[in-house]
Amino acid sequence: MRFIRMKSLSVINAHLIDYPTPVVGYMSSFGSLSGLCLVIQIVTGILLVAHYTPHVTLAFTSVEHIMRDVNDGWLFRYYHSNGASIFFLCVYLHINQNFSSDADDLLWLSGLALYLAIMAAAFMGYILPWGQMSFWGATVITNLFAAIPMVGQDIAQWLWGGFSVDNPTLNRFFSFHYMLPFIIAALVILHLSLLHLDESSNEDDEYVEFYYYYFIKDLFAFFLLMIIFAYLVFFNPNYLSHPDNYIMASISVTPAHLVPEWYFLPFYGVLRSTPDKFGGLLLMFGTIVDLFLIDTLFDETGEEEEDVEAIDLDSDDMDSEIEDDEETANLLILFFLGGSDIDEPYTDLATIITLLQFLEYFEIDIEDEDED
Ligand code: HEM
Repeated sequence: MRFIRMKSLSVINAHLIDYPTPVVGYMSSFGSLSGLCLVIQIVTGILLVAHYTPHVTLAFTSVEHIMRDVNDGWLFRYYHSNGASIFFLCVYLHINQNFSSDADDLLWLSGLALYLAIMAAAFMGYILPWGQMSFWGATVITNLFAAIPMVGQDIAQWLWGGFSVDNPTLNRFFSFHYMLPFIIAALVILHLSLLHLDESSNEDDEYVEFYYYYFIKDLFAFFLLMIIFAYLVFFNPNYLSHPDNYIMASISVTPAHLVPEWYFLPFYGVLRSTPDKFGGLLLMFGTIVDLFLIDTLFDETGEEEEDVEAIDLDSDDMDSEIEDDEETANLLILFFLGGSDIDEPYTDLATIITLLQFLEYFEIDIEDEDED
């Protein structure tokens, strides 16, 4: 027993107190802030489950009941719905901050798995209030899977638990939505373990001990984030949500303008700009994966050219940064186009940006092969 206690204390000491970290700015706090958002989502989610009813006839009214009748129900519901947005904000800034880092491939892949799991959790959570956007969003996205050749229809029916989005769909999405955050928590532990194994990215930096430099820095960032969070929840709680989701889901009325939550807009922009359903699905997932793997590609070039003169490496780094900036710019444009009307010139512009995005990717690939 004593041995176990000593062992666990030494692990805590090695990874949370004495752990050597480079001296970096506040932008590096978004990783731990994302972890904090996960904790907030789990705590508020468990409180919501106590009053939520996962049934198509009751889900919408149970959320209204939480908002109007349950003591402080509005508070934890608004913390949960705005929490998803804050979570994505932190995750995007965290990805952006690490775009140019030469981190290990496995670390990037665990980041990709985390991001996909967070996306799935948020998508399923958005279905639960069973408003118009919940229902039609679920219908559009699950129907995309039906377009996969051969197995598509089976996958779609498995997701629906029947032949269309209905009560079994809501039930299974509720179940997955409850379970996924705990899988995300396990993936976070894996992600952090890989980060602590991979110290190569900090080689040239000056080190300080984790406690108290990182601890105080992240605590300060945490209070700043809580101020933004409180502003949203207390002064503008519905700013980021769509008014149509306050209308109960109806199979016979389609919303005038179907849009996902802001954090999915760039991918929705890609999807909408592709005329073919299956092609759209592939390009949408391609864009998500590309966000992570493009850097792995650059890393490989960096590693392979270790012997080349420093000046060449510098120009590689610059190329890599320019490509990162281009990718960020493309995603930002797609973000605005994804939220705009389905009309000229937005649709054409979105097609052009989607094409550019993928052309750039292949251009890099070809350049890499030429260099080999
Ligand atoms: C990764 C963590 C999570 C994310 C990103 C997330 C996201 C969301 C989103 C976007 C909604 C829709 C909010 C709305 O517009 O009303 C939602 C609803 C809900 N979530 Fe989560 N959630 C997470 C974790 C959890 C957990 C762990 C639970 C339960 C233990 C939970 C339970 C619920 C319930 C019951 C609802 C329906 C009530 C409502 O709409 O407010 N969530 N979630």
